[in-house]
Amino acid sequence: MNQKSIISIDDLSIDDINHILNDAEMFEKNIFHQVPSLEKKIFSIMFYEPSTRTNLSFQSAINRLNSKMIIYNHDMSSSKKGESIYDTIKTMESYCDGIIVRHPDQETVKFISQISSIPVINAGNGNGEHPTQALLDLFTIKKYFSNNIFTIAFSGDLKNSRTIHSLIRLLDRLYLNITFYFISCHELELEQSFKNNIKNIFYEVKNINDIIYKIDVLYMTRIQKEREDILSSYNINLSEETLKYSKNNLIVLHPLPRNDEIPPILDKNPKCKYFEQVKNGVYVRMAILKYCSI
Ligand code: NCD
Repeated sequence: MNQKSIISIDDLSIDDINHILNDAEMFEKNIFHQVPSLEKKIFSIMFYEPSTRTNLSFQSAINRLNSKMIIYNHDMSSSKKGESIYDTIKTMESYCDGIIVRHPDQETVKFISQISSIPVINAGNGNGEHPTQALLDLFTIKKYFSNNIFTIAFSGDLKNSRTIHSLIRLLDRLYLNITFYFISCHELELEQSFKNNIKNIFYEVKNINDIIYKIDVLYMTRIQKEREDILSSYNINLSEETLKYSKNNLIVLHPLPRNDEIPPILDKNPKCKYFEQVKNGVYVRMAILKYCSI
């Protein structure tokens, strides 16, 4: 595995994380949009699963860095003629300096990183992890809570949300005084093996209304129907009424796409920061590409 690959959020040291977040802030402030060594780099985007934000924000980041990209089109590729992933990756190594990959299967991204001599960035591996999303989520949270002590609730499909998995791992490693609330129905709870590794305090609750008044961050997700056929009458939707009971400084995050869990009427509410997350995604991914290339 190339030293600069990011497959799990745990592949990054605390120093690496701070470095990436500092660089992201520089990019946000437009301090060094031009990084000469990056202008010669070519990145490949290999997505085997649908995506809007992750795919296009990486493309935007590459363009803003004046780097170049090649885009792998799975449906038009030789995989349709029976080519193995191994041969495809060995080919990509000759064409580019880094691979950004999303795959529906948890293990394939890891496999790609093991056989690749160039950095591989995990842009989502099934219901496993999504480390670059966790970094942009952290970047957004840090803008509002820099004092290291906060309470965060995760709601929706905790079992299948790779963004939640990476963010919990990241926050749990960085902070000692965090309180986690996990809100979901029984079928969509976090796996027991995952919970066993959490060091901070956590509580599992069924209803957001029971805790809304004491949380600082509410991280919502949709139900991942493409991964699991769940027919549940469980209500994960946030209402204007519920928000009325929240702290003044609450922020509501969502990796997007959303379904019905956040009604568009709430978009104007100053507590809702999901479109700010979208914007931060470009700065953080510029910083990630820089980290992987230098
Ligand atoms: C998420 C993903 O693909 O894991 N979206 C994203 O990358 N911003 C969340 C989802 O699909 O629900």
